[in-house]
Amino acid sequence: MRKLTFWGFLLLLANCITRTPEPTGLVTTKAMVVSAREEASRIGIEIMKKGGNAFDAMIATEMALAVAYPFAGNLGGGGFMVYRKANGDIGGLDYREKAPLTAHKDMYLDSLGNVIPEMSTVGATAVGVPGTVAGIFEVHEKFGTLPIKEILEPVIALVENGVVVTEKQARRLENNWEKIIKVNGDSTFFFNQCMPGDTIKYPTLGRTLRRISENGRDEFYKGETAKILAAFIQKRGGYITEEDLARYEAKWRQPIVFNYKDLRIISMSPPSSGGVTINQIFKMIEPYDIGDYALHSPKAIQLFTEAARRAYADRNYYLGDPDFADIPLDVLLSQSYLKGRMKSFSFEQATPSDEVGHGTLEILESNETTHYSIVDPQGNAVSVTTTLNGAYGSKLFCDELGFFLNNQMDDFSAKPGVPNMFGLTGAEANSIAPEKRMLSSMTPTIVEKDDKLWMVVGTPGGSRIITAVAQTILNVYEFNLSMQEAVNTPRFHHQWLPDSISFEKEGFSRALKDKLKAKGYQIKEGKAPIIGKVDAILVLPDGRLEGGADQRGDDKAVGF
Ligand code: DON
Repeated sequence: MRKLTFWGFLLLLANCITRTPEPTGLVTTKAMVVSAREEASRIGIEIMKKGGNAFDAMIATEMALAVAYPFAGNLGGGGFMVYRKANGDIGGLDYREKAPLTAHKDMYLDSLGNVIPEMSTVGATAVGVPGTVAGIFEVHEKFGTLPIKEILEPVIALVENGVVVTEKQARRLENNWEKIIKVNGDSTFFFNQCMPGDTIKYPTLGRTLRRISENGRDEFYKGETAKILAAFIQKRGGYITEEDLARYEAKWRQPIVFNYKDLRIISMSPPSSGGVTINQIFKMIEPYDIGDYALHSPKAIQLFTEAARRAYADRNYYLGDPDFADIPLDVLLSQSYLKGRMKSFSFEQATPSDEVGHGTLEILESNETTHYSIVDPQGNAVSVTTTLNGAYGSKLFCDELGFFLNNQMDDFSAKPGVPNMFGLTGAEANSIAPEKRMLSSMTPTIVEKDDKLWMVVGTPGGSRIITAVAQTILNVYEFNLSMQEAVNTPRFHHQWLPDSISFEKEGFSRALKDKLKAKGYQIKEGKAPIIGKVDAILVLPDGRLEGGADQRGDDKAVGF
């Protein structure tokens, strides 16, 4: 007995040791911002050094990304924020775009009922009513401590002084240049191609931001900016009117909250599918102790894949804007339902997706959304994912205002069973209706351990967002990686349909794939995708912060 206790003690000790890996990312003591661009992270930090809190920093970082990372950062898009205040209060903000008043279920179908190619993805017809400016003002009204002018000052300085183009940014612009010119013509600001090291200044965006800084939220939704924007979109054949802009409102939502072992995970609720789907995945995995299998072992991959397959099948059928669709959350998230869903799972053989649901599709690769994570010196945390949807959104650039417009309308299900640009199918719950919000996969998430803040995490990646966030949490919690290692580690993805696992390029051997194939898994061959671009913060046991900034992009942790 004594012997057992001794070995038990040793085991516990070993466990404790492995559970606190050495940090490998940036470590700071008080505050941190991790975002897609160093300029944006620095501006967020600057605001906190001036005495602002995480919410003030959120506003500055969000706007700085619109300047430094126009690929996804935006004024013409929308997003979601999950927060946890130092006192433990939690909440979620939905500043998702919505459909214009004239939108209707069949708006992207031709007379034969077929989806019209590109109508929901390119140009003015694809644009949903933007929510970002409403989002930042809502955050400011509820939690802001510094005046908005002071918060926007460094952002306006960034627009005016210009942003240095990185290698990756130049490549992204080059890849999208033709489409941008096709949509906007050759007199657009973006006609001039840029090289790495060039400095881009956006004078018209500077003027727009100044007006917003002077006149507040209504400048964008009811003022001169609203007038210019609605006229511009309509002239280009789109649907958004001044009335649509005037009626837009960001909404506070109760986040999805669930326990996974001794973690408490707080994530975004509908109209994002992120929280519900990640909740289902974790709960389906929980009974198996995935940490007992090695990271990226066949068993760990199988278990995760089978949980994800089932969760995405539910996502596509049941989820949509909760103000329009009845979502049976109680059932979808109940222990007994999820246990039942995994009844057909076996380590011997893959469950074919057509036994879980049906449909066929093709996914495009992309990482055009952006996520940032912030912790302030008081211990407040915000997790924000914001997007134009595709790269540079609809590619429609309003020269007069200086920003791109989203193509978020494509996140609706244009026709039941027909895949959108992320290969996601949808059902009635996500059909188009006036003023409805399109279903999202964005998963800004905050995790508590022992009732304390433990991790702030999120990523872009379209349909792959949910699996990338789940794997990052598991990498730290179950596989004992540091925050930065957890972000660096290669990821894999399965989304029910298509019925195949995609793997990132590095880290998954041919032998591993062959083992999975032998069990009936289909492996997506060909060009390997990038699965997410995670920006996260981990609170270390001694209270210091470790950043995980994704090296797949130019992402950067800055702190003090
Ligand atoms: O809300 C969504 O789920 C999508 N519009 C997100 C798009 C995205 O992540 C683009 N990057 N891959």
